Amino acid sequence: MTFSHVAFSQNKPVPQLGKNTVKEVIAAMTIEEKVNMIRGIGMSASMGSTTPVAGSIGGKVPGAAGSTFAIPRLGIPAIILADGPAGLRIDTLRSNDPKKYYCTAFPIGTSLASSWNTELAQKVGAAMGNEVLEYGVDILLAPGINIQRNLRCGRNFEYYSEDPVVAGNIATAFVNGIQSNGVGTSVKHFAVNNQETSRTNINAIVSQRALREIYLKGFEIAVKRSKPWTIMSSYNQINGMYASQNYDLLSTILRKEWNFNGFVMTDWFAGKDYPAQVKAGNDMLMPGRKSEVKYINEALADKSLTEAEIDRNIEPILNIILRSPSFKNYKYSNQPDLVAHAEVTREAATEGMVLLKNENGALPLTKKKIALLGNASYDLFVGGTGSGEVYKAYTISLLQGLSNAGYQINSTLKNSYQNYIEAGNKARPKRTTVLETIKPLNENDITLDELSHLANSSDVALITIGRNAGEGSDRQIDEDYYFKSTELELIENTSKAFHAKGKKVVVILNINAAVDVVKWRDMVDGILIAWLPGQEAGNSIADVVSGKVNPSGHLAQTFPMSYNDVPSAKSFPGMPIERPETSVYNEGIYVGYRYYNTFNVKPAYEFGYGLSYTDFTFSNIKLSSSTFAKSITVTMNVKNIGKVAGKEVVQLYLSAPAKRMDKPESELKAFVKTKLLKSGESQVVTFKLNVSDLASFDTGRSAWISEAGNYTIKIGPSSKNIKLTKTFSLEKDIVVEKGNNVLAPNYDIKELKK
Ligand code: BGC
Repeated sequence: MTFSHVAFSQNKPVPQLGKNTVKEVIAAMTIEEKVNMIRGIGMSASMGSTTPVAGSIGGKVPGAAGSTFAIPRLGIPAIILADGPAGLRIDTLRSNDPKKYYCTAFPIGTSLASSWNTELAQKVGAAMGNEVLEYGVDILLAPGINIQRNLRCGRNFEYYSEDPVVAGNIATAFVNGIQSNGVGTSVKHFAVNNQETSRTNINAIVSQRALREIYLKGFEIAVKRSKPWTIMSSYNQINGMYASQNYDLLSTILRKEWNFNGFVMTDWFAGKDYPAQVKAGNDMLMPGRKSEVKYINEALADKSLTEAEIDRNIEPILNIILRSPSFKNYKYSNQPDLVAHAEVTREAATEGMVLLKNENGALPLTKKKIALLGNASYDLFVGGTGSGEVYKAYTISLLQGLSNAGYQINSTLKNSYQNYIEAGNKARPKRTTVLETIKPLNENDITLDELSHLANSSDVALITIGRNAGEGSDRQIDEDYYFKSTELELIENTSKAFHAKGKKVVVILNINAAVDVVKWRDMVDGILIAWLPGQEAGNSIADVVSGKVNPSGHLAQTFPMSYNDVPSAKSFPGMPIERPETSVYNEGIYVGYRYYNTFNVKPAYEFGYGLSYTDFTFSNIKLSSSTFAKSITVTMNVKNIGKVAGKEVVQLYLSAPAKRMDKPESELKAFVKTKLLKSGESQVVTFKLNVSDLASFDTGRSAWISEAGNYTIKIGPSSKNIKLTKTFSLEKDIVVEKGNNVLAPNYDIKELKK
């Protein structure tokens, strides 16, 4: 189809998108066309299905999540939208076509954030965006940047962090990477979509301050700094109003305060009142339902919705279509460079891995004979389930990765596991939709006697424990967050047998989010979090285990001592079985480390934590001034004082004076990942703090205020391991930015205060 076709009526050419102004094109639309233009088309989400995206584009990209409406007479093509975020999700198979349309499965969002490396996030985005472009897609429905409020959220793996500065900065880099290909992103799910239980109805009751500082902040950073083409509004309600119907969220804050100029789409089938969605500035209703037409027409007829409001929504949609590859008739190859992208994912996964424990240099493994234990060692989880699942060409198992790296794996054990897993997988019902999560099997029963023999014949035991989660459900506390008894037994027995022979035990955590470590960590010598590392999983893990890559990931979320310590433990997932379904965010701004560090609740591993095979020193902190004017510059020095090359994460926290407002003990304001520092090498790190970095949201004044007083900068490799501090003062209160008094809860939250 070409879109240069010009039709004539009454001797006047019909306006054409790209040739005429967007306003002229809108003016030439019939009301039917207008109503269609604000509705999406189609949905094909089954696993590996060959069902095409429905609608006028005739299945251009099977397996895409939807498209926009085409109006050929006005030169408007449909553009294609597909998931995200750990890779492009399209169908592998197409009818009458022997070719397989594979995409690269990259590490999950949590892993990317654990790298604390914005350059890396940009590189992953650039590679993923190239697949979007070369497979004929226009917009990737990613990244997901909701705050990891509670470790049980089933979609945490798609999200980045419990902290909005990490989430916002990683998202900015990722969006820039994707969009550098001339394709778009949809930053989702805007906003406060922090649980899957009752996700389409739950009413999140949150204070204005927690909204601004925690739940909206990451979106604000990403919108202002990376200009995503689109935003996806979320399913849930915020303080009694569906996000997709919320004018204050989508127009007042997103557009007027943050200057967003792309278009907003709903999440798939979100919300209840379509005309209200249109009025709110939710430009596109996805994936498009027939009933929308009826309700929108009725609202137009009774004047509760105006044609001008529809025109307003069409404008940003057309502006984005103008920038799209489909509009430009881009000749996509269907042949992205999957080999090059496999290298990107292999590297990216290593950089997100977090070394939690390493007694007496348990890692890297210098000796070659490994007793490889744990089902996941032979059957890794490489990604989560749901719309974030990616149909990849292959997975490198840990067995394969370690063999590639020259390790010898005990073959009796290997056969036992492979038979056990094959039988276990056969016995479970076949997955029919992407929304079914994959529960780990009970551990293969290896007796103490067998373990003792293994300890004789091997140099070390490596145990992998796997977890998987996904869209549509939240995680369980027992047998998910806490380990299954078969897993604990395996760790305990292996440790007994191997330690009796003076040999070490290392656990690899192949997980989607935090798990309990407290019950078993003292039994083992080393713990490495590999997350869900994407399709090169086994090679990526082997790169770190062997020391080819020195681990440099740090936690972007707290690992607590007990689930009950999680600040939202009592209120998560709210009261989904009651009507109305509500979740009261009574921990307020005290999410994650803001809570643990302010209320002195000891975590198992704190936010920001991560070890390396080398050691670093932090020194020589200097401030440009001891009193704050417009900004302040902080410099410091980081040096690798160990024997091997490595990268360090330098985290800058700020403690603010708490005069009128409650303030957390400290908050992350900036971070830098160093380059690869050779043994003995140093790097000077520079941070610049602006006045907005000092500000908190004062609900009474609906404004960001920096309070006068003394501020302490705290720099370290984690939120609790502060190596350098320096104080500066601010003379007078500063009103940094005035916001609107919107999204107030109509409920007495009884928020946690210091
Ligand atoms: C998910 C979105 C996704 C959409 C399209 C929804 O169920 O919540 O994240 O982009 O489906 O697949």
